[in-house]
Amino acid sequence: MKQGSRRRFLRDSLGAAGAAALSATPARAASTDAVAGANDRIRIGVIGCGGQGRSDLKDFVKIRNVECVALCDVDDAQIAKTQSEILDAPGVGQKAALTTRDFRRVLDAKDIDAVIVGTPDHWHALPTILACQAGKDVYVEKPLSVSIAEGRAMVKAARKHDRVVQMGTQQRSATHFTDAVEYVKSGKLGRIRLVRNWAYLDWKGEMPVVADGPVPAGVDYDAWLGPAPARPFNANRFHFLFRWYWDYSGGLMTDWGAHMIDIANWAMGVKAPSSAVSVGGKFGYPDDAKETPDTQQVVWAYPQFTMTWEHAIGLGRGPESREHGVAFVGENGTLVVDRSGWEVFAETDKIDKKLRTYKTVGLPRQTAGNEEYHLRHVQDFIDCMRSRARPRSDVEIGHDSMIACHLGNMAQRLGRMVKWDVEKEAVIGDPEAQKMVSRAYRAPWVLPIV
Ligand SMILES: NC(=O)c1ccc[n+]([C@@H]2O[C@H](COP(=O)([O-])OP(=O)(O)OC[C@H]3O[C@@H](n4cnc5c(N)ncnc54)[C@H](O)[C@@H]3O)[C@@H](O)[C@H]2O)c1
Repeated sequence: MKQGSRRRFLRDSLGAAGAAALSATPARAASTDAVAGANDRIRIGVIGCGGQGRSDLKDFVKIRNVECVALCDVDDAQIAKTQSEILDAPGVGQKAALTTRDFRRVLDAKDIDAVIVGTPDHWHALPTILACQAGKDVYVEKPLSVSIAEGRAMVKAARKHDRVVQMGTQQRSATHFTDAVEYVKSGKLGRIRLVRNWAYLDWKGEMPVVADGPVPAGVDYDAWLGPAPARPFNANRFHFLFRWYWDYSGGLMTDWGAHMIDIANWAMGVKAPSSAVSVGGKFGYPDDAKETPDTQQVVWAYPQFTMTWEHAIGLGRGPESREHGVAFVGENGTLVVDRSGWEVFAETDKIDKKLRTYKTVGLPRQTAGNEEYHLRHVQDFIDCMRSRARPRSDVEIGHDSMIACHLGNMAQRLGRMVKWDVEKEAVIGDPEAQKMVSRAYRAPWVLPIV
């Protein structure tokens, strides 16, 4: 896409499949019916063609005038699968001219406007920063970073190079999450004293220990490790399962915390907490292969309210009998939202407590319906590429929600409270905790100073 046309506010129209999927789009939806011309074609490359890279791409190619021209993965089989399952699919028929194990080749390609970064978490920051430096916009998966320092560097790179960088927290593009957040902001709940966030994963259980083994054929394992410490190949730490290891991720705290804390921050209009305490451990599966806690609670302090996180792997009955969600506990009622809908439970009437009569602020369940809000999130990114506006899940919004997640993990691993200077983005009075704000990279990789 030419620079000049980038500046024009020319929003995409969708292909037939995409238009049908967005038929429930509410009035405030981003798209118009303007049809982009050939010069407005957006060429993208995918870096990390695993489960989520493919899911993202599937929605990108539903948008008219978006073309995937490059597929990059350190595992050749993932590239082949992405070409055959997504790009060769009926109605898509695209061929990635560039396939490579080295993401820097994608960044060097002058005809590529944007990249999807669908790599494991430890490989989000570098491709994002280098893509910004190469003049490309970035759709980067959550969780944004594996350290607070990475996230700050990503924000700086996006701003310095004037890039659109959107994090894959698709709830920001969901009508029902937007409605729930507006309800919280309306003040109808009264003063909010507590925000609870949680994720219980009953579909994931024990992960038996397996021995280290040979690197699978067609995989550049050294490139998969990248900035993470060198170690022998182990299938438990590879595709998808990397999220249960500190070297590559932050466990369920960052995996689902990135989604839920984002909603809490959005509704409460906050940036980061002033402290975190956390407990937890491997209580469900003490001897299994996972490293990160299968059970964890975090309490964060904000000036006017408290925020909490809890997670459990192997259990499905979280707070409010839901397996994930956010609950805003106000003086008039509690609003509970998750991916399936939202509702407001009225507070008991304090005057007539024995009878447990209820105030009138309760709201019956608002179901999410079939809206494809992931597609709306991708559409928002494309719209912003054209308008140069900030996307709904701008990189800084993502960074802010990751601060709480990372502080939660730091407090759990250190076994003590971590105090945080929100303005300076630094730990207060704890050099050991401050060291955890950044991570050492394995040579030759370095986190660029932006
Ligand atoms: N938005 C969502 O709801 C959502 C859902 C699932 C996963 N995710 C996120 O997506 C990311 C990927 O998760 P996944 O489950 O798809 O993992 P995955 O292991 O299936 O996919 C990651 C892919 O990246 C590849 N890769 C690793 N290093 C690379 C490099 N240097 N260059 C190119 N490719 C490289 C791997 O070989 C693998 O194919 C994670 O950060 C995860 O948190 C987001």
